[in-house]
Amino acid sequence: MQLTQGPLRISFCARTDPLPWFEALRKELPQAQLEAWSRGAQPADYAIVWAPPQQFFDEQTQLKAVFNMGAGVDALLKRKIAAQLPIVRLNDAGMGVQMAEYVCHALIRHTRQFDVFEAQARAGQWHEPVPLERGHYPVGILGMGVLGERVARAVAALDFPVLAWSRSPKQVAGVKSLFGATQLPAFLAQTRVLVNLLPLTPETENLLNRSTLTQLLPGAYLINVARGRHVVEEDVLALLDSGHLAGATLDVFRTEPLPPEHAFWRHPRVTVTPHIAGRTLVPETVAQIAGKIRALEAGLPIEGMVDRSRGY
Ligand code: NAP
Ligand code: GLV
Repeated sequence: MQLTQGPLRISFCARTDPLPWFEALRKELPQAQLEAWSRGAQPADYAIVWAPPQQFFDEQTQLKAVFNMGAGVDALLKRKIAAQLPIVRLNDAGMGVQMAEYVCHALIRHTRQFDVFEAQARAGQWHEPVPLERGHYPVGILGMGVLGERVARAVAALDFPVLAWSRSPKQVAGVKSLFGATQLPAFLAQTRVLVNLLPLTPETENLLNRSTLTQLLPGAYLINVARGRHVVEEDVLALLDSGHLAGATLDVFRTEPLPPEHAFWRHPRVTVTPHIAGRTLVPETVAQIAGKIRALEAGLPIEGMVDRSRGY
């Protein structure tokens, strides 16, 4: 990689107000020239993007790296991007703790029966149901990457049995690691609360369907905080209605925003949130990206390079 001569040029391309980003970038990289991309813009050295149009890559041919403003690169990889251009995803950047909060909240709400108490309170009912035993609620985490591991540690700290499924084996205290397609059935058969933190790739799309979800322990609970396209939504509805799934907390959907007529909105055992489980935080994200730009300019390696052959 050639070192930049003169001031660094950074192009920003996302459907969000660039001003807070520029303010934070100016503090981190005071010499950089910042520009919100529009057609015909000057060539930049680095880009910070979320779901940019194809024209962005067609025009910006002198980039040295492109930084995704999120952890998941599924939308970005739909674009035609020069094979040699490094694509860098966010590594946590403040999302891990948010994911841990979100998943623990959904897990505790279900297993401490707060969902039941909310319904009882609305009806003015005072009733103490039999408590659930946490040992009967093994939590299975699909995806044991940056976010999956943070969530696994948080759940294990609450004394739930925890297992995780990934492509390669992992060693995390208190977490049973299963890996590869051949161990997926064993993982599902031991899981009652399923947390999805996989990247969306051709291998993982539609993975959560009638066949796989039926293999979960009866009365299973689904927490999807990864991507909507992992899930066959009609199959989730059918398994909720059959009682095999006790409920679901869903942050992501095949169509976002979730259409007003979608059955998930009205299902009494489904909780919907608007894709907020792990939000991109400006200060943390800019600090991480600026640190990586400085490292690249110094010829040093960085974390978070996307492997396009794997799709994450
Ligand atoms: P990551 O670090 O890349 O981790 C991905 C994990 O999935 C890895 O453990 C990987 O296994 C595993 N995996 C990938 N393909 C697999 C396969 N075919 N079979 C088994 N395991 C597989 O990603 P991350 O930073 O944790 O983020 C995960 C996802 O969360 C993102 O891709 C994004 O879709 C989603 N997300 C959602 C929100 C939200 O607000 N809802 C926010 C941020 C991220 P190996 O470790 O063996 O490679
Ligand atoms: C959000 O969904 C992300 O991938 O960061």
